[in-house]
Amino acid sequence: MDVDSKAVHGATERANFAAMTEGTREDWQLIAREFGEHARGTPDRVLEHLKLLEGDHGGFPVCRLEHSLQCATRAHRDGRDEPYVVMALLHDIGDTLGAYNHPDIAAAIIKPFVSEELHWICQHHGAFQGYYYFHHLGMDRDAREQFRDSPYFDACAEFCEKYDQSAFDPDYDSESLEFFEPMVRRVMATPVNSPIAAAVSEKPAAA
Ligand SMILES: [Fe+2]
Ligand SMILES: [Fe+2]
Repeated sequence: MDVDSKAVHGATERANFAAMTEGTREDWQLIAREFGEHARGTPDRVLEHLKLLEGDHGGFPVCRLEHSLQCATRAHRDGRDEPYVVMALLHDIGDTLGAYNHPDIAAAIIKPFVSEELHWICQHHGAFQGYYYFHHLGMDRDAREQFRDSPYFDACAEFCEKYDQSAFDPDYDSESLEFFEPMVRRVMATPVNSPIAAAVSEKPAAA
């Protein structure tokens, strides 16, 4: 996998202020330029972080990376478009940092690049996955019903039924992370919902 080390580890130019109140137009033009390069490195950092799920089973039949690949593969083979497949690939990327709220982390990462519906599915998949196991832990498997009035309820239930709850098969022939890498790069190349990206790309001198 081709990973840009500067994208992962950061830039070298620096602004000259100790507090933002001292920032100049030149400082912010420099930062705006660096932001563009930093933002373009997002897929590299996301792909690197996704690899942290490899070998992390947590008691499940497959590790969290294999689960993610299997979920994305099932969605891809079912004809879903690239933003959907990338959402499926990344939906559990927050497992390493958000043990108690991992869907929030993945949802935040994909938010600038996907539709409101895909963001909603990602953010709420935890409660919807509960339909398949909460009752085994003395919890309410119908906890997802609190979201019944959402226009995205059925789409989230479908994601969990078809691709997420079914992606724990040790014998499934999942595609590799390299297979999905170009999709991640294409989906994350252009934010569809990011005020800061629009401001920096359209009028950097006015920062
Ligand atoms: Fe999850
Ligand atoms: Fe999952």
